[in-house]
Amino acid sequence: VEIGSGIRDRLVARTLDAAPAGALIVVSDDTVCNLWAEEAFEWLNEQGRKVVAVRLPTGEGHKDLRTVERVWDAALDAGVDRQGLILAIGGGVVGDTAGFAASTLLRGVHFAQLPSTLLAMLDSSVGGKTGINRTHGKNLVGSFHQPRFVLCDLDLLSTLPEPERRSGLGEAVKSAWFAGDGALRHLEVNAAALLAGDASATASVVRMGVQTKASFVVRDEHDMEKRRLLNLGHTIGHGIEAASGFTLRHGFAVALGLIAAFRIARRLGACHSDELERMTSLLRRLELPIALDHYLSSQVMSFVALDKKREGETLQFVVPTKPGEAYLHSLTIAQLAALVRP
Ligand SMILES: NC(=O)c1ccc[n+]([C@@H]2O[C@H](COP(=O)([O-])OP(=O)(O)OC[C@H]3O[C@@H](n4cnc5c(N)ncnc54)[C@H](O)[C@@H]3O)[C@@H](O)[C@H]2O)c1
Ligand SMILES: [Zn+2]
Repeated sequence: VEIGSGIRDRLVARTLDAAPAGALIVVSDDTVCNLWAEEAFEWLNEQGRKVVAVRLPTGEGHKDLRTVERVWDAALDAGVDRQGLILAIGGGVVGDTAGFAASTLLRGVHFAQLPSTLLAMLDSSVGGKTGINRTHGKNLVGSFHQPRFVLCDLDLLSTLPEPERRSGLGEAVKSAWFAGDGALRHLEVNAAALLAGDASATASVVRMGVQTKASFVVRDEHDMEKRRLLNLGHTIGHGIEAASGFTLRHGFAVALGLIAAFRIARRLGACHSDELERMTSLLRRLELPIALDHYLSSQVMSFVALDKKREGETLQFVVPTKPGEAYLHSLTIAQLAALVRP
C-alpha cells in the first residue's frame, strides 16, 4: 500500500510488476470512469497489452451479482487467463465488487486497487475482504482476496463530493478508536480542516487508517478473532444501512452504529459515559449523523439477525472500553435489542 499525492504515476510500473503478461481489466463506475479511470486506461493501453474497460453503474445498490457477472464476462470476452489482472478504480463499491469477481474468476486472478474515495483509501481497499450484498443484508457473499498493490493517490479526492468525504470520516473514527487517544485527538483538533479537504490532515488520516487496518490483518487475515474487533459500529450500522435500502452512505451508518456500540458498552458497564460523550461530540464535529433513535426499528434488528458474524442465536458484539481497546461479547439478538433501546 502506497500513499501520497500524484502516485498514480506508478500505476503502469506496479501493474507490469504484478502481472507481466495477460489481460488487464480496468473496472470503475459511471462517475469515476470519466474523472480518473480513462487516463489510467490510456496509460495501460500504451503498453501494448490487452486492456479492457468495464464501467459499472454507480452506487451501493449495484453491489450485486449482476454487476459481478459483468466483470466476469468482460474478462472472459477478453480471453483472460490466470496471469490477468483486475484493477479496481473507484470507491468501496467498485473495489468490493471487482475484488470478488477477481477472486472467483478462474478460481482467482490478480487484483489491484486505485481507490478514489476517502473511505476506500483508509479502509476498504486494504485487507483483502471482497463481497456483494443480497436483499437479506450487507456483504453476505464474499471472499478474502488480497490486492497485489494499492495506490492511495490523494489527488483523486479533489473531485470527491463533500458528503462522500464525511462518509469516509465516519469510517476513520472507527479506525481512530483502535489507533488510540492520539488518533482521536487528531480528528477532534482537525475536524474543520478534514471537512474542508485539507491535504495534510487528510493524508495523515489515510495513513492512520491503513496502518491500523494492516496491524489487525497481519495478525488475523481471515477474521477468526482479532480482526473481528474492526467490526466496531458495524453490527447495528449494517442493519441500519440495509434497512435504508442501501440509500444511507456506509460511513453514515457506521457513525450511527458507533453511537449504538458506545451506548451498549455504557449499559454493560464496559465504558465510562465520558467515552460515549466524546464519541458523540467527535461525530457531531465531523457532521456525521448521531440521532440513533431516529433510525432504530424492528426492521433494523431483523437485518442485524442476519449478520454474517452470527453463530446460532448469538452474535459477537464489539464492545469498546477505552481508546485503543474493545472486546468481543456474545449477545443474543433479543439482548442486543434490549441494550440498544432508547
Ligand atoms: N472490503 C472492506 O474491507 C470494506 C471496508 C469498509 C467499507 N467497505 C464497503 O465500501 C463501500 C462504501 O465505499 P464508498 O464509501 O467508497 O462508496 P462508493 O464506492 O459508492 O463511492 C461513493 C460515491 O462516490 C463516487 N466517487 C468515487 N470516487 C470519486 C471521486 N474521486 N470523485 C467523485 N466521485 C467519486 C462514486 O461514484 C459513488 O457515487 C460499502 O459497500 C462498504 O460495505 C468495504
Ligand atoms: Zn465499514
